[in-house]
Amino acid sequence: MKVLITGVGGMLGRDLVEVLKENFQLYGLGRKKRKILGVHYFQCDLLDLNKTEKIISKVKPDVVIHAAAKTQVDECELNPKEAYRENVLATLYLLKGLGNQKPLLIHISSDYVYSGNAKGKVRESEEINPVNVYGYSKWLAEELVGSWLGPKLILRTSWLYGRNGHNFVKAILNISRAKKVLKVVSDQKGSPTYTKDLAQSIKKIILKWKKNKSISGVFHLSNSGVTHWKKYADQIIKLAGRKHVKVVPIKTKDYSRPAMRPKNSCLDNSKLKRVFGFQMRDWNLALNDYMVEEKIIKGK
Ligand SMILES: NC(=O)c1ccc[n+]([C@@H]2O[C@H](COP(=O)([O-])OP(=O)(O)OC[C@H]3O[C@@H](n4cnc5c(N)ncnc54)[C@H](OP(=O)(O)O)[C@@H]3O)[C@@H](O)[C@H]2O)c1
Repeated sequence: MKVLITGVGGMLGRDLVEVLKENFQLYGLGRKKRKILGVHYFQCDLLDLNKTEKIISKVKPDVVIHAAAKTQVDECELNPKEAYRENVLATLYLLKGLGNQKPLLIHISSDYVYSGNAKGKVRESEEINPVNVYGYSKWLAEELVGSWLGPKLILRTSWLYGRNGHNFVKAILNISRAKKVLKVVSDQKGSPTYTKDLAQSIKKIILKWKKNKSISGVFHLSNSGVTHWKKYADQIIKLAGRKHVKVVPIKTKDYSRPAMRPKNSCLDNSKLKRVFGFQMRDWNLALNDYMVEEKIIKGK
């Protein structure tokens, strides 16, 4: 099976390569010049429709995983035009680039399509009501994918961290080298998700879909368990053994940033369990493994 990954040089893209290369013939697309082991890499901006079309008609993928996006939430707020170009127009061009081909399209989306005002865990049926430009652009991309006529799965995930990108875990580890007191918001909750776990789950989804091609729709996909950013930071500091560092809770209103964030990003993964027969493991276990794999702590 041939799998084409957009955004293959990004945080999720790199882990997708690591996890999928055993089972599939991999092709990847990204803007920067790079070599990635295990994947036939094409340097291509999705906004270059001609080139995108040519690559897709040459590869003829069985599965496309669309992980490319502009993910810097505050930058999106400050530059909406760029956010819509990279998240919406690029998705439209990818769909145009597919032409008459109908591979399985796995579109990676986000908890940011919701307002964050839900009381309990957020289900896929929750009203779409983003609170920032990034969320709107991700939702519009979903709408485009939804109107495409081929088989598709929209996977909404949350709070990603992994080896190959800027993320909260790395930020907390870096800041705690220089500072003894960290201020972290405690009134936004969600589920941190390890990109390697997410990549393994996407592999399970593809294999299951191969056996039942009628499965389609929107699914939540995050590590289980919930926390808030302050507790998450506490756990990172604790695992790293930095006992001298204190994490102080603050309110969102006291931490000014260009883009608003949803307060409740806890995704209910029960539809995934019902349809695909699995759920992702607890975020604490995943974080522990990440810290061991990155040699931040020693394994047992
Ligand atoms: N990060 C999170 O916390 C989070 C949470 C929920 C959902 N998501 C979603 O998960 C997916 C993966 O996120 P991530 O954190 O792995 O992203 P990332 O590390 O920022 O990587 C995104 C990649 O997209 C590529 N890209 C952007 N615009 C492109 C274009 N016009 N043409 C070709 N490639 C383009 C970039 O390629 P170059 O490097 O070559 O420029 C970049 O490597 C995204 O869809 C994101 O919206 C992320």
